[in-house]
Amino acid sequence: MSDDSEVKSQPKEFISLTWKGESLLILDQRLLPHEEVFVEARTPEEIAEAIRTLQVRGAPAIGIAAAFGMVLAARSVKNPDKVMECLTQTRKLLASTRPTARNLFWALERMIACAERAPRNADLSGLLEKEALAIQQEDYQVCRAIGEYGAALLPDKVSVLTHCNTGALATGGWGTALGIIRSARAQGKEVSVYADETRPLLQGSRLTAWELERGGIPVTILPDSAAGYCMRKGLVDMVIVGADRIAKNGDVVNKVGTYPLALLAREHGLEFLVAAPLSTVDLSLASGEEIPIEERSPEEVLTLSGHLISTGTKAFNPAFDITPARLVSAIICEKGVLRPPFESAWPD
Ligand code: MRU
Repeated sequence: MSDDSEVKSQPKEFISLTWKGESLLILDQRLLPHEEVFVEARTPEEIAEAIRTLQVRGAPAIGIAAAFGMVLAARSVKNPDKVMECLTQTRKLLASTRPTARNLFWALERMIACAERAPRNADLSGLLEKEALAIQQEDYQVCRAIGEYGAALLPDKVSVLTHCNTGALATGGWGTALGIIRSARAQGKEVSVYADETRPLLQGSRLTAWELERGGIPVTILPDSAAGYCMRKGLVDMVIVGADRIAKNGDVVNKVGTYPLALLAREHGLEFLVAAPLSTVDLSLASGEEIPIEERSPEEVLTLSGHLISTGTKAFNPAFDITPARLVSAIICEKGVLRPPFESAWPD
């Protein structure tokens, strides 16, 4: 690298979850971008709380954190005959934290399967630790593959609208929708981003903008409700989002506000791309209507920077919405670019 501007143009990677052998170090996403604070989770209960309170968030990152929660559970049991019982209880605890992201349940299933196939007298917590580390490392590789496949779809100069945060923070360290943007940028494409602020918890304006700025990728924050105006003015070339769970028919559940973006993209003739690992796909569910949608506390809507903005008022706070498959132009996964009809497009 010769000069500072060249250095800045390279996407910088960072890891929000670091396994320390005895604990999981978590970059507290609630405090970003003002404070970069790492908290140490030493028990499965602390990991469950970190997921519930969104210290860790983003479907793949939730799955990774839960996997390490299972390692901590196995470590806490002295009697080898009691480990499976403890893992079953811990799985229940972690599964109760957030209902929507498929990756959480996928990771827990994978950890249980690892424990079940372990030979008797094996070092079970050692095997589980390896499995959790593999889940994290594989997610990084999977996101790099999504990035490459997705970047190939982007023209050399492009303005992308995205929603929520799907970057390094939300995954094993590269990102899905944001991973595509990072990969395109690394290939030398001129990518600029409109980041929806993503009310009420502002994952877009707090986290996506922070990540992109660190990577030297031009980003403009947008009120969620301004997307239509921007598309009408021709400021956006395509929409790329992530997913929390995708049903067999290709219906996509993602952060609330995704569905209206898909409708707007259709109206304006723009491609609506969804980037997600196959661990987000739930082939057991025929359509998005069967995906549980998390409802969070009304307080998140009724307060702004800790101040109550309305008193004595009810609020409805669904964390996700369902985008019907007919509005999705393509799903980009680690195996390639899938086009509708999605039912018959899933790789083995
Ligand atoms: O409530 P959050 O912040 O966990 O919601 C996250 C999203 O909706 C992301 O788009 C999704 O998990 C994909 S992250 C790669």
